[in-house]
Amino acid sequence: MGLLDGKRILLGLGGGISAYKGPELVRRLRDAGADVQVVVTAAATHFVSPLALEVVSGHPVYQDLWRADAGSRIVHTDLGKDVDLIVLAPATADLIGKIRHGLADDLLTTTIMACRTPVLVCPAMNTEMLGNPLVAANIDHLRTLPRYTFLEPGVGLLACGITGPGRQPDPPEIIQAAAAVLAPNDLVGVRALVSAGPTHEPLDPVRYLGNRSSGTMGFALARALAARGAEVTLVAGPVTLRTPVGIARRIDVETADEMLAALEGAFPSSDLLVMSAAVADYRPRERQDTKIKKRASESDLSLPLFRTPDILLSLSRRPDRARLLLLGFAAETNDVAGYARQKLVEKDLDWIFANDVSTAELGFGPGDNAGQLFARDGSVTTFDRAAKDALATALVAHLAPTLSAHRATLEASHP
Ligand code: CTP
Repeated sequence: MGLLDGKRILLGLGGGISAYKGPELVRRLRDAGADVQVVVTAAATHFVSPLALEVVSGHPVYQDLWRADAGSRIVHTDLGKDVDLIVLAPATADLIGKIRHGLADDLLTTTIMACRTPVLVCPAMNTEMLGNPLVAANIDHLRTLPRYTFLEPGVGLLACGITGPGRQPDPPEIIQAAAAVLAPNDLVGVRALVSAGPTHEPLDPVRYLGNRSSGTMGFALARALAARGAEVTLVAGPVTLRTPVGIARRIDVETADEMLAALEGAFPSSDLLVMSAAVADYRPRERQDTKIKKRASESDLSLPLFRTPDILLSLSRRPDRARLLLLGFAAETNDVAGYARQKLVEKDLDWIFANDVSTAELGFGPGDNAGQLFARDGSVTTFDRAAKDALATALVAHLAPTLSAHRATLEASHP
């Protein structure tokens, strides 16, 4: 199961240095489940070999509008209609300019013009070119047309030696953006509050109590909600993850107290809380201002610990709780279903997603996950082992009808 399972993608490569990343991008799109047809411009072939693209895509690579071996098939009118999405990576200043002005002098631009298939544009170019008012105006104009979605270029060291915006985003970001364009937009208007990652409870300036959560599942859920149009506020504990595509706002916190404060702040303007953070249950009673030194005379160290707030429990007891749907998580090592059902009731949740973390390779970290969703009405849905991004997509797809119905009910009661 991948983010782009069963999707047909036409990858168009413009003539920028980032075209050399094309074969890797094709491979990653295919790993995500997509069938990839590549079209290159003549300029792109200076940076990447069509043969390499042909081998990794498993399809002939098209370039020439006038190619003789296409037989009676009218390639430029067929190609775009046969796919679900056109991805332009790299989208050069020239390519963007031609599309904006309705010019079509090669196979890629005629293909785009001859169909209505959505286009994900990934501009990648030198910073000065990107900032050029003519290029910026072309991008701004295309942004106003619903057919074109832009993925912001990254900031980094560019081939020309300067550091600035213009870098082609890495394949995972392009794949996320592609999945978002293809996802149904049924969560527009839903305001989702998602917590993710661990909390760290400091002992002194260099040490903390924490847990092994990487935040991957919470970030994947935030991405999957945003992909379907939800307005997502992501409250993240200390993690090393990049903000997923489409997130409206991200608030970084460290401790359970900070996470509670951030969630309380956003709670009244949310319709859904996804509490996937692994909150530390205890914190050191005191935080030392200077590093705790070991003493030669003492072989043991005892640390008095205090309970941190149970964030989900305290939010579920707020008077405005009924406005929101609450999804909790339970990572258990034994009697998974029993503890999950108990937490569902105790914390007054609409759903709880429970997973068994007794097997080392599932649950924590960036790998796969699997689990069961227990609902307030007693129903149980099993989610088989999958990459966390794909599992999050499946979980959000399962919840989407209830979320949009909830939003509609709120709108009807407070128009
Ligand atoms: N949770 C929370 N605040 C805490 C601890 C947990 O909000 N201090 C939330 C988690 O984010 C999760 C749910 O409560 O959505 C269940 O968390 P879990 O750690 O499985 O359960 P606990 O309630 O902490 O119980 P225990 O550790 O005894 O299993």
